[in-house]
Amino acid sequence: RRAPPCTFVVFGGGGDLTKRLLVPAIYNLACAGLLDDRFSIVAVDWAELSDEILRAQFHEALRDFVAKRGTSATMLRDDVWRWLDGRISYLRGSFEEMETFERLGARVGDGNAVFYMAVAARFFGPIVDHLGQAGLTNEAGGTYRRVIVEKPFGHDLDSARELNTRLLATLRERQIYRIDHYLGKETVQNIMALRFSNGFFEPLWNRQNIDHVQITAAETVGVEKRGRFYEGTGALRDMVPNHLMQLLAMTAMEAPVSFDADAVRDEKSKVLKATHCAAPEDVVRGQYGAGSIGGVPVRGYREEPDVAPDSRTETYVAMKLNIDNWRWAGVPFYLRTGKRLAVRKTEIAIHFRHAPYALFRDTPVERLTPNIMTLHIQPTEGVTMQFGAKIPGPTVRLGGVRMKFDYSEWFAEGPSTGYETLIYDCLAGDATLFQRADNIEAGWRAVQPALDWSERAEAAPLCPYAAGSTGPAEADALLARDGRSWQSLT
Ligand code: BG6
Repeated sequence: RRAPPCTFVVFGGGGDLTKRLLVPAIYNLACAGLLDDRFSIVAVDWAELSDEILRAQFHEALRDFVAKRGTSATMLRDDVWRWLDGRISYLRGSFEEMETFERLGARVGDGNAVFYMAVAARFFGPIVDHLGQAGLTNEAGGTYRRVIVEKPFGHDLDSARELNTRLLATLRERQIYRIDHYLGKETVQNIMALRFSNGFFEPLWNRQNIDHVQITAAETVGVEKRGRFYEGTGALRDMVPNHLMQLLAMTAMEAPVSFDADAVRDEKSKVLKATHCAAPEDVVRGQYGAGSIGGVPVRGYREEPDVAPDSRTETYVAMKLNIDNWRWAGVPFYLRTGKRLAVRKTEIAIHFRHAPYALFRDTPVERLTPNIMTLHIQPTEGVTMQFGAKIPGPTVRLGGVRMKFDYSEWFAEGPSTGYETLIYDCLAGDATLFQRADNIEAGWRAVQPALDWSERAEAAPLCPYAAGSTGPAEADALLARDGRSWQSLT
């Protein structure tokens, strides 16, 4: 179904996010015939650009995108590009001057509009204030006006609250679409499908049957050119209250009463409010030193551009969280995420309790194959189940086996950026995959103690690890303390 007509305004329209992700996503939506003929893009930025130059830049970025992710069957479609090309315009102006918004008002007219904040977080508040003052957020005569806000949404719980209050002074909650790009990933959306469209799993999905859960988001990239931003952010803020908490919420939430946006978001908030980190010992902060990735030597974090030589910013964090409710009491959720690790891998591993009693004389209970269901988010997309089986032969011996569902084997997927669903849903007014104010605050609340501890060096030492390794030894000790170990990263 085509989305309603809309003027899609991108603040920061000349920037990287727009070229690398938004324009390719919009192009893919156009290819799928999901955009209305009255769809158009207005890119707002302060660089000296013309419509022609901007269109040429978008065209080049698209070619790149298709060349990297497409197959021969998905060459850049000239007909679609021509359609899109005629709908792109540029508006030069400052995000902090009223005059920009007055000129924008003339472009947008009185139809539907989405305002996308692809800008540094310090502009979110001022842009929304100005949109309001210019009357651009008024939904008159059945039109809609929506704002998509990128991360980082605040710096801690207090600043997230302040930002919510500021946005809500101009907008209604239903006009605000707070993005977490993890929710655009098919495999993340699949967690709900897996849990709530099957009879198999849900009866086992609780403290009676699950021993613990491990959530991993490992990256091989370093901080790249984002040293300035990352220095004041660190792995904990950058990944945990948002992306990892979304994975945790999808895994641990109760079944919503419907797939209505508020029903789903109510359940997420509930489980996040019950989630907490008990003590400084349950948090491990790491920082990468020099090492090598895939045989290529790489420098340490402190040698990266715009990073202080004595920086105490963490590039890795592992933590143990508890969820205080009837379903999960006593079942730890271990999280870890880091840059410059040995592999790129995001997954959720559900470790089930082992059989209560082993009939097999030669295999004591603790040596039975652990029953693990792994939800592979990226780069492999799918689900595997690990369990024990009889090794063929005259004597009874047990071995571990794996059963695997691989997305790419089952479904022919087109190339995607992960933003297609999110943009389409916003155009169509479905906020299910966006965060409500209370979801964001609940994510921050769960990590706030860890942020506070990290202010005190004695409570939060920084553990070094070599680039290309599996992270600091202290993270292994965090699980070993509980008689457990991490899934292998390599
Ligand atoms: C971003 C973080 O939100 O997510 C980055 O700011 C991180 O530091 C990225 O690299 C990870 O996203 P993905 O989709 O590659 O897992």
